[in-house]
Amino acid sequence: MSTDQKILVTSALPYANGPIHLGHLAGAYLTADFYVRYKRLTGADVAFICGSDEHGVAITIAAEKAGKKPQDIVDRFHKMNKEVFEEFGISFDYYGRTSSDTHRETSQEFFKKLYEQGFFKKKVEKQLYDPKKDMFLPDRYVKGTCPNCGFEEAYGDQCENCGTSLSPTELKNPVSALSGEVPELKETTHWYMPLGEVQPKLEEWVDTWDGWKANVTGQVRSWLNDGLSDRAATRDLSWGVPVPVEGGEGKVLYVWFDAPIGYISATKEWAKASGEVDKWKDFWQDQNTELYHFIGKDNIVFHCIMFPILLMEHGDYVLPKNVPANEFLNLEGKKLSTSRGWAVWLHEYLEDFKPDLLRYALGSTLPETKDADFSWKEFQSRVNNELADVLGNFVFRALSFTDKYAESKVPELIEPSDLDRKTLQLIEGQKDKITDSLERFRFKEALSETMELARIGNRYFTETEPWKSRKDDPVSCGNTLNVSLQICAALSMLLEPFIPDSAAEIRSQLSLSDEFSWSNIKAGILPKDHNISTGKILFEKIEDEEIEAQLEKLENRAAENEDAVDLPELRDNIEFNDFMKLDLRAGKILTAEKIEKSNKLLKFTVDIGVEKRTIVSGIAKFYKPDELIGKQVCVVANLAPKKLMGVESKGMILMAENPEGDLRFVETDATPGSQIS
Ligand code: 2FM
Ligand code: ZN
Repeated sequence: MSTDQKILVTSALPYANGPIHLGHLAGAYLTADFYVRYKRLTGADVAFICGSDEHGVAITIAAEKAGKKPQDIVDRFHKMNKEVFEEFGISFDYYGRTSSDTHRETSQEFFKKLYEQGFFKKKVEKQLYDPKKDMFLPDRYVKGTCPNCGFEEAYGDQCENCGTSLSPTELKNPVSALSGEVPELKETTHWYMPLGEVQPKLEEWVDTWDGWKANVTGQVRSWLNDGLSDRAATRDLSWGVPVPVEGGEGKVLYVWFDAPIGYISATKEWAKASGEVDKWKDFWQDQNTELYHFIGKDNIVFHCIMFPILLMEHGDYVLPKNVPANEFLNLEGKKLSTSRGWAVWLHEYLEDFKPDLLRYALGSTLPETKDADFSWKEFQSRVNNELADVLGNFVFRALSFTDKYAESKVPELIEPSDLDRKTLQLIEGQKDKITDSLERFRFKEALSETMELARIGNRYFTETEPWKSRKDDPVSCGNTLNVSLQICAALSMLLEPFIPDSAAEIRSQLSLSDEFSWSNIKAGILPKDHNISTGKILFEKIEDEEIEAQLEKLENRAAENEDAVDLPELRDNIEFNDFMKLDLRAGKILTAEKIEKSNKLLKFTVDIGVEKRTIVSGIAKFYKPDELIGKQVCVVANLAPKKLMGVESKGMILMAENPEGDLRFVETDATPGSQIS
């Protein structure tokens, strides 16, 4: 049933420098998988390509932090991420890696072709250089203030606050991320992509975009309005793809030059592994192919401006038909942060729950048009109130009733009532709505319309009361079961893109084969007398304790990471008025005790003159509670209260970290309540 339509779907290659978390999933992977699974069912010839981004400063910095070689880091996380995606049901056809030989060759050939066409501008210029470390400081090796939005933690390649892509020399107050030194300027040679010169050509293409998401076009238009500037395609680093032209010795390709080419090299490897070496060309070089890049919003500039320019200049490749980028996912109302431990890791999630539960809950909360929030309570409520109470309940009612009272056979539809017919029609009505939403990359809407069909089924079952008609109107009862089972059958297929394991379980309970296509989802999938199996509970409800355990895990990790002292660089100057916002008080510790189940936290009652406060502090490793009673300390009295391991902490006791990493009190002999300034 192939339609011959070639569809190439890519998901952003995650850096192989850490595990996958919910933010990654919501950005570039879950929606791509929904789309791919749906498209496969329509008969399209789909290639779903991803892999590890193994170059760039994100990797070398992670390696330095861990005291390991970059290769060890990427080997570890490539394996881990590939496996966790598989376990979660992200159905990549191929998961490559940018350290492969195919990738090196493909990206070098790509660079050489553009070089020979005279695309690059060679520039000899001064770049930021760390004299202490004896190296240039490209990309994330340097941090500073964003010239666009003033964010003080912007990287040398991009400001993660406003999304602007940057050059290190554009940063204000740059500081080496390696040594904390203020960098010097030193001369070096690089090849630049003259993005500004090709902007008109890019704009012509942008003008042809149809059906692109407003968040994507908005960002792109704004960059184009500001005007594109030259960007270096090479770096003074040793980790990466070596620059393959004269003068390129000791230099590598910029990671954002080689990473998107990773989509091409991974497609080549996939083709080779499938025994049809040239098949990759059908996906990259046939103008009828539809190419879709699924990404998070921080990658828009690279996928909608830079990579398309490279593809256009190269000339042999298709351009994306759409880039349905998602916005960011927050967690429990706060920004996700891996360094602060504020994240839910997919491998940890999978230790506790099944993939489909998260696929459904996250699919219902996607940051499609604006940032969204994931909370464990909402996860629980989606599972319990929707998956279990609506979908699971409906399928179970229909199947178990048929099992008990219709000998496990689909009853014949005999002279259906208006309600029976209308309900059957709704199957195709819902299918059309779902199809339309999927085609427009509105996955939340598609999922909710799918669940709506289960609601329709539930309402219909309740309204027709088969438990009554069973006795006094067996034909009507048979019709109810027939219609309900037809809805279950349609659901078992319509749900496949979203919750594939549960969809397969429903098909198995209905004794339906896994061989089906989107086009045969209609009313009347099940013939009369078709044998079904016994209905089994599809979704167990999640208990409150399970959710509390997840919240506690999150809080604990955040508390542990809160203790970690960042690089001891001097912070930027602040105004006197900013300092005066702090209400610092002398305090006296009245009571001190350990917090159960935490080996880090102590709970104090502190007299701060004006009142007595409960304050939680992560210093259990350094002090025994009884030795602290009576200690006179400095307290931040106006810090917003925060719950740690179930205890609300109102304020913070000031501590200093000594060079050995121990925490020590900042003591005072002032009367409790005295203001410190
Ligand atoms: O932002 C990131 O995590 C990048 N590693 C995404 C790369 S996408 C592609 F171009 F390779
Ligand atoms: Zn910025």
